[in-house]
This record gives sequence, C-alpha cells and structure tokens, in this order.
Amino acid sequence: MRLQQLAEISRKKLAEAGIDNSRFVVLLLAKEFLSLSGADMILKNTEEIESPLANRYLAAVERVASGEPIDYVLGFRDFLGIRLKLSHSVLIPRNETEELVEIVIASENSSRVFADIGTGSGAIACALASHIPSAIVYATDISKEALALAEENAKRNGIHNIKFIEANNIEGLDSFLEHVEVLVSNPPYIRTTDMNSLDLAVRNHEPRIALDGGEDGLDFYRKFFRHLPFGKRVYLEISQYETEGLIGLARDLRGYCYEFRKDFLGNYRFMILHPED
Ligand SMILES: C[S@@+](CC[C@H](N)C(=O)[O-])C[C@H]1O[C@@H](n2cnc3c(N)ncnc32)[C@H](O)[C@@H]1O
Repeated sequence: MRLQQLAEISRKKLAEAGIDNSRFVVLLLAKEFLSLSGADMILKNTEEIESPLANRYLAAVERVASGEPIDYVLGFRDFLGIRLKLSHSVLIPRNETEELVEIVIASENSSRVFADIGTGSGAIACALASHIPSAIVYATDISKEALALAEENAKRNGIHNIKFIEANNIEGLDSFLEHVEVLVSNPPYIRTTDMNSLDLAVRNHEPRIALDGGEDGLDFYRKFFRHLPFGKRVYLEISQYETEGLIGLARDLRGYCYEFRKDFLGNYRFMILHPED
C-alpha cells in the first residue's frame, strides 16, 4: 500500500471515530510505527509500505480509534525531559504532575533525601533524581507491576539514585522515613462514586488502583497523615474538589502548617505541608 493511501485511510478512520486532531495523530503514529517524520509523510507519499509494517501501523490506528489513550498505544510518555515507558499497570503521567515536580525542584534543590509515594511509572522519582543528581530518592508503590516498570524506566534513563520499595502508603516505612526530608505523592484521589463518570479513555484503560481514592476520595491522605512523622516537608497532588476534606484532615495533624496552590488551569491542585516554626 502506498504511504499516501495508508495515511488517508488512517485519518478517515480516526475522524470517523471522533478522534480530535486526526491528522496530528496520523503523524505521531507514523513517527513511532513507520519511523517517518512529518516531512517524510509528504516527500515519500508515493512510496510503497510493506505489508507487515503497514499492518502494524493500522493496528495502532485501530487502538486509538477504539478509544485507547495514544500514550499507551505509543508505549511511552515524555515527562520533564524523561521518556517513560508505559503499560496498563500505570497511570499516564499528567501535566499537572510535571507542575508538582517543578514546584518541588524549585523549593528543594538543596535537599538530599526524597520519597515518591505511589510512584507508578516512576515519573516523579525519575524527574527528581535526574534534575537533582545529588539526591537519593525512595520510590514506593503498592503495585509490583508498577514498581517493576518504574525501575525499568530509571535504568532506561541511566538514573541510578533511586531505591524502589514495595509498600502500602507510608505505613511500615519508618526506617526509611527517618532519613527522608521531602515526601512527594500523587495518590489516587477520585471518589469511588465519581469513577463511573470519568472519561471512557481513563475508566477503561488506566488502572483503578491509581485512581480510586475511596468513598470521599481521601482514603490515601487519611492514612498518610496518620503515619506522617514530625519534621518533613510534603508536596501532594490533590483533587480540586477535596480542599475542604483535606483541611478537615489536616486539623488533626500536629506540628505542621499547610497551603494550597493552583495548577496552570487555575484549580487547587497541590497541598504543601511544612513543619511549624
Ligand atoms: C495517581 S497514580 C500516580 C502515579 C505517578 N506517581 C504519577 O504521578 O504519574 C497513584 C499511584 O499510587 C499507587 N497506589 C495506590 N494506592 C497505594 C497505596 N496504598 N500505597 C502505595 N501506593 C499506592 C498506584 O499503584 C499508582 O501507581
């Protein structure tokens, strides 16, 4: 099949499936599955594409047309300059989480020991470890599959200053927490009752364990605050709908003061806790 024909069939299939920016998606998939740039797509459009390659490409188009997020189809996501391999065991890292890491890097670049609780693909841990090379980062997750992928992502990016630990929240991490100065987490924070109203792409393809925060969306934070030792600096991603609930939880937290910050969309997205002076 000629490249031009392949591109046209794909664009039409994606447009019919209601995929936005179908032309752009065609180019993204061509780069990954045909090793062709945007310029190649024009200059080589009369070239024949061998069947196995064309079929691999069309299979990827089919996955996007069926509603699978393009990052899973491509198999990777770039996060603050780091390419992270993805699988369905981990959440696709979001732009808001890049913002969280930027806040941490700006405020904590002379800190040494960090922990990323619920590391998923390893996005936060890898970005911190790479942008603050003198840091030691502990990366934890309750999911074995996520931890294995996070470890693979660190290796792929030549990052060696992360230690991976399987753990439930921060319970039982006392011997590590003793040395940790900065805790960062983007935990599951969607209310269970809201899980069914999530975008289908999220609901059908991203892991529930990464999203479902329990009845009020606060299960993770409740346990986290209960076990939080004195004297840490804490950077949390939060739901914009749960600030009241979080204020309620923080009331029982002795020795800390806190603030909320907005993301680039203007939603309260981050909660930052510091020891009281
Ligand atoms: C919202 S995802 C965030 C993943 C990654 N940090 C990111 O920002 O892209 C939440 C992660 O927390 C993990 N998780 C859920 N419950 C947990 C728990 N009780 N203890 C540790 N990790 C947990 C999930 O497996 C998932 O990888």
